[in-house]
Amino acid sequence: MRVLFVCLGNICRSPTAEGVLRKQLQDAGLAGQIEVASAGTGDWHVGKQPDVRTCRTARIRGYDLSQQRAQQIKAVHFAEYDLILAMDKSNLGHLQAMRPATAKAELDLFLRRYDSALDEVPDPYYGAEEDFEQVLDLIESACRRLVIELRGRL
Ligand code: 4NP
Repeated sequence: MRVLFVCLGNICRSPTAEGVLRKQLQDAGLAGQIEVASAGTGDWHVGKQPDVRTCRTARIRGYDLSQQRAQQIKAVHFAEYDLILAMDKSNLGHLQAMRPATAKAELDLFLRRYDSALDEVPDPYYGAEEDFEQVLDLIESACRRLVIELRGRL
């Protein structure tokens, strides 16, 4: 089972989701059975570590994102991953447009599927400290529901 999170730059929201899901899977004893990764629709930050504000906010809550490096989404990812989760509607539109007709991956909006109140994880890039906190709050809560679903699918 392989899960891919996608945002715009792959330096704020999707690396956070990757780190949070990986830790929650470890805590649930499922780490060996599910692979987690992230990508961006844009290529500006390819090869870079997550944003320093993202890393700092995550580290305070016990998530280490320092080994992650940004990559851009590619058509081959639709064959490699089972579940591709977009952070906002713009990311989802981009993914739908490039999705190969034969793709095996299921594609969905992360919060539409795992949060009862919101559809999108707001882009924090031009925001303040509290915006990064809010991103982490939303992602932690949605990942808890995702882990329950993944456990049921194994
Ligand atoms: P992300 O945030 O999509 O959550 O990684 C952004 C990162 C970089 C940019 C925009 C959003 N940017 O314009 O460079």
